[in-house]
Amino acid sequence: MTKPLPSSDPAALLAAVLQANEGTANPRLKQVMAAVIRHLHALAVEVDLTPDELQVALDFLVAVGQATGPRKHEGILLADILGLATLVQLRSARHALEAGGTEPALVGPFWRANQPVRANGSTICDPATPGPRLRVTGRVTDLQGTPLAGARVETWQASPQGMYENQDPEQVSMNLRGRLETDAEGRFSFVSVRPAGYPVPIDGPCGALLAAQRRKVMRPAHLHFIAAAEGYKVLATQFFDIEDPNAFEDVVFGAVGSLLRRFEPDGEGGFTLHVELKLERGETRLPHCPLP
Ligand SMILES: [Fe+2]
Repeated sequence: MTKPLPSSDPAALLAAVLQANEGTANPRLKQVMAAVIRHLHALAVEVDLTPDELQVALDFLVAVGQATGPRKHEGILLADILGLATLVQLRSARHALEAGGTEPALVGPFWRANQPVRANGSTICDPATPGPRLRVTGRVTDLQGTPLAGARVETWQASPQGMYENQDPEQVSMNLRGRLETDAEGRFSFVSVRPAGYPVPIDGPCGALLAAQRRKVMRPAHLHFIAAAEGYKVLATQFFDIEDPNAFEDVVFGAVGSLLRRFEPDGEGGFTLHVELKLERGETRLPHCPLP
């Protein structure tokens, strides 16, 4: 720069900051940071951000980091409650969705590594788990409906009390979790109990933000799935109970489109659910597993 920045021209300041970013070696980082700079400057101008308000925002980000530990990732929660995680998931799957692929949903913070291997048709819950039975059948196929044999399916869910086993001293370890493998027709099945909805953690800065926004903090009842087959992109999704009182007010905006389902009564006091997991060809890469 050969002369001082004019003090009354936000556009000149923005141009100078973007120019300072130009030397970034990684082209993707350069592109992303240029957008971050442009949008942050536009935000500050739009709302006429004060120095005190900027400090509040920075303190909030520090608190998000400080609330993150081995059992809870407040940063993931922040991306979730802002709808950013859902937006990114849906955008990354848009080509598959146009071709009839299964809608994705966020992985969330409760998937565990080394979930127990379960045989098709077996139960994934401890017999002591109370609640109405839920029989789940599913099929993993490509976008054309061709079955994918030997695909890995991971599932996990909350109890009828709305608790994951790792949050709940009443449940045995790895309850309501399983890893299955599809048969020659791409099918898998298991027996479980009907899950309940649950609140997201509200003991950190995200909880304070939700309270300030006077928002509901509940997720509708759901089952999580991850389907992985060699040569196909990994699908992470969730299927939601459309009869849940919060079915259309998921605090993390994951309950979209066809993922809302009716759990059909089986005539014996239990319920059934069938899910189709349609995978797009591509690189097979499992998402980050948040829990050991
Ligand atoms: Fe969940």
